[in-house]
Amino acid sequence: MRNKVTKAVFPVAGLGTRFLPATKSVPKEIMTLVDRPLVQYAIDEARAAGIKEFIFITSRGKSALEDYFDQSPILEQELRKKGKLDILEDLKSTNMESGAIAYMRQHKALGLGHAVWCARRLIGDEPFAVMLPDDVISAEKPCLQQMVEAYEETGGNMVAAMEVPYDKASSYGILDVKDDMGAMVSVKGMVEKPNVEDAPSNLAVIGRYILDPAVLRNLNKKQTGAGGEIQLTDAIAQEIDATGVYGYRFRGQRFDCGSKAGFLQATVAFGLARDDLKDDLRGFLDSVMQIENAAE
Ligand code: UTP
Repeated sequence: MRNKVTKAVFPVAGLGTRFLPATKSVPKEIMTLVDRPLVQYAIDEARAAGIKEFIFITSRGKSALEDYFDQSPILEQELRKKGKLDILEDLKSTNMESGAIAYMRQHKALGLGHAVWCARRLIGDEPFAVMLPDDVISAEKPCLQQMVEAYEETGGNMVAAMEVPYDKASSYGILDVKDDMGAMVSVKGMVEKPNVEDAPSNLAVIGRYILDPAVLRNLNKKQTGAGGEIQLTDAIAQEIDATGVYGYRFRGQRFDCGSKAGFLQATVAFGLARDDLKDDLRGFLDSVMQIENAAE
């Protein structure tokens, strides 16, 4: 029987430069998609997958993120008094149990691998998940839950994967596929941000991982890779011939909310998926498109 995956690491210590000046004072993960911060979507997905312990790797200027998970007794009291019970329920669903959430500081942004390594003592010797909240995935069955189910069969290390246009491969970790079994692929190589002409495929790693603790030991070496950063991809690649690495083509739509275009697309898609917003939003989008088309 495999160890259950009950811990997840959320590396949120990056500088968020693509969203400056907003990220001067607002952590990227607190930016709002419709009416919830990005991080709430990741937490909900983690809970659905059976995660019980949430480990945030933070940095200077992220205190709004820590505050977000606190209870807000005055607000709750007011909502109760005003009979706004549906909003109250929604609000309470964002509370974290005491002890379920931990914050660890990454003192310098040395890379995603280094951020994950900062959680090593809280992880110990068990498999764990890593989730990047700026990859928002809309799916009938939440992405991490799909992966946990697949991982029960394979063990080893599993990364979420999706095909991207070849000319975008240099923005991702790319998999060199050994056996393609449909939803699942076994991996014989991984390369972080390859030059387009060197990319072994167009199957890219997306921000969901289930990892063996051996990856943390690989990170102990603190080797730098692409961009001079300590890369998680490199530490996972070292497990290909040891504990094994699999790519998992999840079912769902991924939005890159770390980029402006992706964030806008997600806002529209999530707005259109909401019963209380879709009619107004669709009407607005239609009128904008008509004006655009008339202007051409
Ligand atoms: P990104 O490459 O998106 O970097 O990091 P970023 O700083 O968040 O954003 P830009 O590119 O400057 O706009 C991917 C994930 O890894 C985390 C980030 O917080 C993000 O969730 N990360 C990256 C760390 O936690 N620490 C690091 O040293 C680097």
